[in-house]
Amino acid sequence: TSKEPTILVIFGAGGDLTWRKLIPALYNLHHDRYLPDRFVIIGVARQETDNDSFRLRLREGVDRFSRRGATDPETWQGFADRIFYFRGDFTAAQTGERLKVRLEEIERGWGERANRIFYLAIPPTSFEAATRQLEQLGLCKDCGHDRLVVEKPFGRDLDSARALNRLLTGMFDESQIYRIDHYLGKETVQNILALRFANSLFEPVWNRRYIDHVQITVAETVGVESRGGYYEDAGALRDMVQNHLLQILCLIAMEPPVSFAADEVRNKKVDVLRAIRPIPAEEVHHFAVRGQYGPGAVEGKAVPAYREEPGVAPSSTTETYAALKLLIDNWRWQGVPFYLRTGKRMHTKVSEVSIVFRPAPHHPFPAAAVESWQPNRLVLRIQPEEGIISRIQVKQPGTRMLLGPVDMAFHYREAFRGSSPEAYETLLLDVIRGDATLFMRADQVESAWGVISPILDVWETVPTATFPDYPAGTWGPETADLLIARDRHNWLQPAGA
Ligand code: BG6
Repeated sequence: TSKEPTILVIFGAGGDLTWRKLIPALYNLHHDRYLPDRFVIIGVARQETDNDSFRLRLREGVDRFSRRGATDPETWQGFADRIFYFRGDFTAAQTGERLKVRLEEIERGWGERANRIFYLAIPPTSFEAATRQLEQLGLCKDCGHDRLVVEKPFGRDLDSARALNRLLTGMFDESQIYRIDHYLGKETVQNILALRFANSLFEPVWNRRYIDHVQITVAETVGVESRGGYYEDAGALRDMVQNHLLQILCLIAMEPPVSFAADEVRNKKVDVLRAIRPIPAEEVHHFAVRGQYGPGAVEGKAVPAYREEPGVAPSSTTETYAALKLLIDNWRWQGVPFYLRTGKRMHTKVSEVSIVFRPAPHHPFPAAAVESWQPNRLVLRIQPEEGIISRIQVKQPGTRMLLGPVDMAFHYREAFRGSSPEAYETLLLDVIRGDATLFMRADQVESAWGVISPILDVWETVPTATFPDYPAGTWGPETADLLIARDRHNWLQPAGA
């Protein structure tokens, strides 16, 4: 349970993730009294600093990034007392030895062995050295108590993902490894499961007989910010599609789970990934397109091209936009295309899934009535303005029979008061409680790379001459419109965009 004494060790605690995401999330959990009474955070990093300055810097992060806004002094003090800075190079043997002494000291004080959670908020190049330390010193060897949290990237292609999984599962039990995909912690992403499996209205039509196609859009207005170095080597396909978009696709397409047990849900999701039709190299251009932003304007503000961002090569061929058409070869989805797109510096920040239903089989209405007719559409809005919108046809008011679309809408903001937990709150609490349902199992990660790797292989060998090919602040390159137009569809304009 979450009441067991717990020590959370963050490797790479000097980094952005700790400051922006982890500590604000933990503060909120502390504020809402979700953390065990005996719970401490040990931040491991190389910088020369002490507890006081470390806490001060973290407080700044909480003030800025916590959904609660500025910290309440008393609550902050209670939380800060749980945080300790631990200076050290986590790849060096003596850091591990010192850490071991520290952990045992805390546990002696508590009079019992604590659950130990090791959070790798470090670059993948350091995973091996850090985890070997843990293994050799036996710091993370008790399956029931000790956990390892791994942040992406989990490899950069199928081979390196396999190698990373082999490394980790060679030292730890799979049940101890929590691979984070923060999209799975988002309230509205989890709500896909509730919508599908807690209602009897949708599931009967959730298949190829009624659904024409599915569109998944994750559009960002931000550029690469200070992450040019990382992003140059990643690109949109690795950064977003391999993980977040494919996970959303799994939730939309999976079969009903028997229970919410971690492996039950994960088995059903991995079935989807395995059913995705492989794309042969010579057909990649029919199924996947890429783009890169040039200079433009986002929300009225002029912004530079990707190639002008810090840390980016002036002739970079890294994609900042990717669109895909995927087919799922199983009974439920045969012949239903899933179109996925994601990009940086797009027109609007919006993540949503549109389920587009087949046309009604017959129209008894006069021809004029159906001029503005549109197929039914169910939109699952993940962010911002979270909600679910269903577009239906109604008679327009008037003396004649004229049809037109209207929206039936559920908005989180209106239906529920107060803010929902951030993804990292949900996920960190799950790690503390030992619930791996929302985390990626090794085979999920590998199957997802299996979908993406053939595309990456082609893209790496065939450079593009056309970059940049979309101005910042637009909906992406023309090639993406062509990809979907070939099937006589078009990308749906997100509601309110
Ligand atoms: C991260 C990517 O995984 O997700 C970033 O590395 C991206 O490039 C981010 O900006 C998007 O997350 P969110 O929660 O803002 O949609």
